[in-house]
Amino acid sequence: MLKLTAIETSRQAVWAARQKGQQSGLVPTMGALHEGHYSLIREARARCDFVAVSVFVNPAQFGPNEDITAYPRTEAADLAACESLGVDLVFVPAVESIFPPNTLTNVVVSGLTERLCGLRRPGHFTGVATVVAKLFHILPTDVAFFGEKDYQQLQIVKRMVRDLDIPIDIVACPTIREPDGLAMSSRNVLLSTDERQRAASLSHALFRTRDRVLGGERDVATLTAAIRDEIKAAGPFDVDYVEIVDDQSLEPLTTIDRSARICLAARIGTVHLIDNIGVDVPPTG
Ligand code: PAJ
Repeated sequence: MLKLTAIETSRQAVWAARQKGQQSGLVPTMGALHEGHYSLIREARARCDFVAVSVFVNPAQFGPNEDITAYPRTEAADLAACESLGVDLVFVPAVESIFPPNTLTNVVVSGLTERLCGLRRPGHFTGVATVVAKLFHILPTDVAFFGEKDYQQLQIVKRMVRDLDIPIDIVACPTIREPDGLAMSSRNVLLSTDERQRAASLSHALFRTRDRVLGGERDVATLTAAIRDEIKAAGPFDVDYVEIVDDQSLEPLTTIDRSARICLAARIGTVHLIDNIGVDVPPTG
């Protein structure tokens, strides 16, 4: 496994694989790797001859009130995990090489970035889109893998690739959960034991809501009110949003009459958690 920090040598490694006719895949991450990330890497390994993983805690996607230094960092364990999963290249750049002081260009995916998490985190998705666009240029693979856990991010990346004609196929991978349903996240380690127990109520509310939709309930106000009640009943949470949206445009629905995504974000203590689940309903009429 190659571990590279330099942009040019990393790009050359991807080109060398492509020139050999190998199918190449990229898994962008911020490290602190867990089973959720592993599932993306395994999917990349299964589909591609050459697998690159980037590990970069991207300052551009942290807001002024968000503590980037609190983000968990486990580089030695991440490298060992990549090695054992059969990764070919781990790209671990320094902040200064990705964002030199004279950087002036950002990638703004309008509309999609302003909903859901974008409201509480202005600039966050511009930071994500910009770094992902850069990673796609530095590691120009055929395919890149993203988790549905970050559903809004996934839609934004898909849209950016389409709008900017970036020749990379985006593969969406399902959310990996703890046995009690909590979506795996690098932030979960920041929860206290009590908070960790209560956090499972987020996914339980999503699963119950999906069942209600499949059972015939289509009214979004009724469904989202029930989710809020269920989360509140589990203890003190600050709910950022509970929304049911069109699963492509992310526009809020009032009635579930098409493929939808139930999305929520809540804070327990100081830790922000997000989760979502898809619901497909047969078109009526
Ligand atoms: P990070 O949070 O490290 O996540 C990297 C990738 O792993 C993302 O595509 C994310 O959706 C996926 N992932 C995280 N938890 C998952 C889970 N429980 N199940 C399935 N997939 C999961 O997302 C980022 O980093 C950054 O924003 C990045 C795209 C790297 C840009 O900086």
